[in-house]
Amino acid sequence: MSFIETAAAAGYQAFQGLRATPSVRGRTVVVVGASAGIGRSVALEYARGGAEVLLCARRAAELEQVTGECLAAGAAAAHWVAGVLHEAAAAAGYQAFQGLRATPSVRGRTVVVVGASAGIGRSVALEYARGGAEVLLCARRAAELERVAGECVAAGAAAAHWVAGDVTRLETQLAVRERAGRSWDRVDYLVLCAGALSVQAVVDLWGMRQGGGGALRAADGAAAERADRALRRIMDVNVHAPAALAALLLPLVAAGRGVIVVVASAAGLMAAPTRALYSASKHAVAAYFDALRMEVRGLGVAVTVAYPGSVDTALRHSAVDAPAAAAAPPPAASAGPRMAPAECARRIVRAAALRRRALVTPWPYAAAALLHAVAPALVDALAERKYRQRA
Ligand SMILES: NC(=O)c1ccc[n+]([C@@H]2O[C@H](COP(=O)([O-])OP(=O)(O)OC[C@H]3O[C@@H](n4cnc5c(N)ncnc54)[C@H](OP(=O)(O)O)[C@@H]3O)[C@@H](O)[C@H]2O)c1
Repeated sequence: MSFIETAAAAGYQAFQGLRATPSVRGRTVVVVGASAGIGRSVALEYARGGAEVLLCARRAAELEQVTGECLAAGAAAAHWVAGVLHEAAAAAGYQAFQGLRATPSVRGRTVVVVGASAGIGRSVALEYARGGAEVLLCARRAAELERVAGECVAAGAAAAHWVAGDVTRLETQLAVRERAGRSWDRVDYLVLCAGALSVQAVVDLWGMRQGGGGALRAADGAAAERADRALRRIMDVNVHAPAALAALLLPLVAAGRGVIVVVASAAGLMAAPTRALYSASKHAVAAYFDALRMEVRGLGVAVTVAYPGSVDTALRHSAVDAPAAAAAPPPAASAGPRMAPAECARRIVRAAALRRRALVTPWPYAAAALLHAVAPALVDALAERKYRQRA
């Protein structure tokens, strides 16, 4: 550069420098187009300054990576939403609105996650692990649990323990309590995630459909027994087990003035065709924990009920009423977009940290729930259409 060019550039910079850059510490920042290039660097710059960032772009894997970089660089918190621009912008607006309150830290907190071997529960465990919490995991598959415990330690968990067993069994419930009590004098977060689905229309579950035309035959004894088993099983997994675990662990949760989180479902707010058993169980579990919230408030315990919409997991393979025919295809996933389990987990962990009473996510389900309160028949019609498309 010539002397004159250098002097001009220096003068320009000196002129700019007369005003110092205001601090961005604690500021909330949305960066759209943050997975690469200038957007990524902008996000990192805010992160270095201690801001809380929300990143949007199409590529989820890159966004997750930049989120990690932002946290490592010093961001107070980092969130991401993947999607094409108009979807991401709507979700980002919703999140930014929520994000005005920073997420309290979970470092050093003690967390029990039930249903942690896969899906949302695994992601919840990892989210707490990344925050530096100590986790105790439970589910049936020991090998999967061991693997998730290893992932938690690698992600930053202070420690990761696990107990394998069916949570509908008292011995498993007692083993979880015993393991938590052996390691800790309190439980800060009890996250009840284990769940099962149902996928059959009532007339199919009871074996009443015959050919086309809508004529029904009477249910026979075998079908009635099958239906009864499915109903009892879904209630055992989705209602009885979380109710029992919450009671058994309540003294430990109360000792830490902690939070009980139960993962219900949007089906616990609005029923859907082919989901009668599932919707009934999720309405029941939500009502149970709504009542419990009032009862334990005086103990300093908060209760958060999460109502996620469709999340991209293998939940449909857990159907208690899966059609018996070996040739039957696996039950279809919900039509329309499905949230990533990591994103769902992040929102659940945040809602719990803020001791929110409820979380309905993603936002279109919150809108639908509001609409359902004033125009339930309209929401029924939308649900019928959505589930007809899947058939
Ligand atoms: N995916 C969605 O679209 C969605 C939407 C709204 C709400 N939810 C709710 O979110 C929760 C988690 O579902 P997900 O989608 O993450 O399903 P998922 O991928 O099938 O995970 C379910 C977890 O629960 C465990 N589990 C199931 N039955 C159990 C039992 N009897 N004893 C112990 N552990 C058991 C499973 O582990 P093992 O198989 O190893 O036991 C697994 O870790 C459920 O309550 C579900 O209803 C899901």
